[in-house]
Amino acid sequence: MKKVYKAHILFTKEKDRFEVYENGYIAVEDGYVLGVASHLKDLNCPDAEVIDFGDKLLIPAMNDMHVHAPQVHNQAVAMDLELLPWLQNYTFPEEAKYADVEYAERMYRRFLHTQWLFGTMRSVVFGTIHTESTRCLMQLYQEAGMGAMVGKVAMNRNCPDNLSEDVDAYIEGMEQLIKDFSPLASGREAGGEVPSLVRPIITPRFVPSCTPELLRACGQLAQQYQLPVQSHLSENTSEIAWVQELEPESESYGDAYNRYGLFGQTPTIMAHCVWTHGKELELMKRNGVMVAHCPTSNFNLSSGLAPIRSLLDEGLRIGLGSDISGGHDLNMFRMLVYAIQVSKMHYQQDHSKAFLTLPEVFWIATKSAGSFFGKVGSFEPGYEFDALVIDDAVLYPSEYSLLHRLERFIYVGDDRQIVHRFCRGQEVAEPKVL
Ligand code: GUN
Ligand code: FE
Repeated sequence: MKKVYKAHILFTKEKDRFEVYENGYIAVEDGYVLGVASHLKDLNCPDAEVIDFGDKLLIPAMNDMHVHAPQVHNQAVAMDLELLPWLQNYTFPEEAKYADVEYAERMYRRFLHTQWLFGTMRSVVFGTIHTESTRCLMQLYQEAGMGAMVGKVAMNRNCPDNLSEDVDAYIEGMEQLIKDFSPLASGREAGGEVPSLVRPIITPRFVPSCTPELLRACGQLAQQYQLPVQSHLSENTSEIAWVQELEPESESYGDAYNRYGLFGQTPTIMAHCVWTHGKELELMKRNGVMVAHCPTSNFNLSSGLAPIRSLLDEGLRIGLGSDISGGHDLNMFRMLVYAIQVSKMHYQQDHSKAFLTLPEVFWIATKSAGSFFGKVGSFEPGYEFDALVIDDAVLYPSEYSLLHRLERFIYVGDDRQIVHRFCRGQEVAEPKVL
């Protein structure tokens, strides 16, 4: 069924400028964009229902490319340590609680609800080692109608016994989830199938948490079932030194993943890359590995300032991640602001590194990030209609341009201005909290 929405439409087809349609029209059929135009007649949809959002903004929805759902209870607490002691003291004890599926469901519902509030319609998410709790998280995304790649976490060393799973149990748990969550759902494509909104993703926590046998099993599963991969890379200098000790044959931290088939052999996203350079950078480029830039996490855990301008200029694919609870904020719009601010700190040190502009970070957070899911994050024809309607009347004086209205919403807006949320064409209702 065709629908046409009328609003002020803004999105980033190219990385350095917004497409702006004041009082524009967008036609959507079966979840996919047919076209955008300034005049209704140019859409060639004479019988489509027109839904008029008046003076509101219509923009692509947010994608959180790196987030730990089971760390939601630790959000915005315990920020007094760097990565490795922080994991041992705060993060692992909290994740161990997810052996209890009831606890998991209560927390995961809260987590999903907050993502919904802030207009995050797609996520690349870490769960825990626990198969049933991870299944619960996947079901909650499915029920909500929000898109997610969800990882049952692989870890079996340098962690407490109650957060360690041996290789056979990991493979068995993964195969259950792979069987229960089909990669295809019914839809309008040839054969009547489209990629499912909720899919499993291979998730080795990071090299120090996984024995070579476990990393090998992860790589084999990714290959066998053609599943994407997520993990952490070059976040913290102590972590990098540790990986060098654990995998002395590797040329870089990234190469350690690469040796196990976990670095671009299937679509791969790596969080942080604060210290990525040289051979690791070359390997990422060659293998098309995407970076999930997590600026708030990098501040809170004092990991460093990721050189996003340089990585972008090198042609790397990049998205933004909240990385709760290393990061403290689930509002992805604010992540755009933090990403700009990190790049301004680099610029202050080195004026040859231009800081990121608003259209650049918007493009990173929408079209660039969304490419990990398929055609997501833009309003060009053929893209999935993932969209937010923003009623920002309380935020702007009447003389503001549409671009300044969007900028102000990004910098100081919040969930109260998001009045409609769409994922693959369906309006997403408020998920229930227990
Ligand atoms: N590296 C390994 N595990 C984690 C985690 O949970 N958070 C962050 N920020 N880095 C990690
Ligand atoms: Fe993380």
